Amino acid sequence: MEKKKKLLVLTGGGDCPGLNAVIRGIAKRARREKDWEVYGSIEAFNGVFRDPVEIIKLTRKITGGIHVRGGTILKTTNKGNPINYPMPQSDGTIKMVDRSEELVKKIHSLGFDAVINIGGDGSQRISQVLHKRGLNIIGVPKTIDNDLAATDLTFGFQTAVQIATDSFDKLVTTAESHHRVMIMEVMGRDAGWIALHTAIAGGAEVCIIPEIPYDINKIVDRIHRRYKGGRGFVNIVISEGAKPKDGTVTSSTGEKGSEHVRLGGVAYTLSKQLKEAGCTAEIRETVLGHIQRGGSPIAFDRVLASLFGVHAFELVIQQKFGRMVSYRNNDITSVPLEEATKAPSFVKRDSHLVRAAKGLGISFGD
Ligand code: F6P
Repeated sequence: MEKKKKLLVLTGGGDCPGLNAVIRGIAKRARREKDWEVYGSIEAFNGVFRDPVEIIKLTRKITGGIHVRGGTILKTTNKGNPINYPMPQSDGTIKMVDRSEELVKKIHSLGFDAVINIGGDGSQRISQVLHKRGLNIIGVPKTIDNDLAATDLTFGFQTAVQIATDSFDKLVTTAESHHRVMIMEVMGRDAGWIALHTAIAGGAEVCIIPEIPYDINKIVDRIHRRYKGGRGFVNIVISEGAKPKDGTVTSSTGEKGSEHVRLGGVAYTLSKQLKEAGCTAEIRETVLGHIQRGGSPIAFDRVLASLFGVHAFELVIQQKFGRMVSYRNNDITSVPLEEATKAPSFVKRDSHLVRAAKGLGISFGD
């Protein structure tokens, strides 16, 4: 019998709704080719480094029906960068070590012919280095932040927007009933895509995004105009990476994450600044946090993730390595990894979305 080719799949970075749909898409498409077997490394590349390795065969039984589930059946980590890998030392300290060459050697020695790395910009930068070290690798982009310029959309984003919009709708009830200002903080790091879409979908009065630093007095004016006559309410959506003009971002923990400082808590910063600037309305704050990444992907993300999975496997059989799958102009295509990791995608001040939001009466505090 002819020896089968082996594909290794892994998920890296933060979890994101749709990861399992990509894994299933790859496995199902691969089953249509008789000469391929698909395996998954547990917890990104950590499964390969471990001794014994933690690698599972992605059988029909394992991948059946997983497209509806959130998270990733392969587990993930943002602390397993093979180029800068944390190695505990005998004196109890941690030394960061480049293990990329060792990793490529081990993947080859385990008999893998190709790898599909499902992850965000950090993971795709790793893919690029591993490709240069001789690994046959394909990238699949994932992030709820939708901040990769090489693809018009990433899966997980629409689910995050839906969760944020559902939460926003619930907060409107309290705003209306109590004549309050309700501030809802959403994720997105340095990009305001989740906030902007949620503000339009929910019908916010104010939307604060990192790309448009805010003037607190403009927001107070907007609130007071809504409260004319004594009654009123205001719903604000703020992106975690937002900052005032001449100010900095808020990190309530002050902790350093895997690559950047951990954001979070800007809703409380804004609340305090509003009060200091003379806002007399009652204010409440909600930080949505990881709720936005949790649970089942909505239909749109299941479809996009499944298409990405199928396409990624097709790139493998066509031997088009060193590329990342992308959604462009309503088509599934791919781009070289160098291009994929070159530029993030931010909301532009003069974009049709911002203009339309302003047309709907949404203030950006600018
Ligand atoms: O990049 C996705 C994201 O959810 C960001 O929106 C957020 O800032 C970050 O990850 C949170 O990361 P962690 O799960 O490590 O707290």
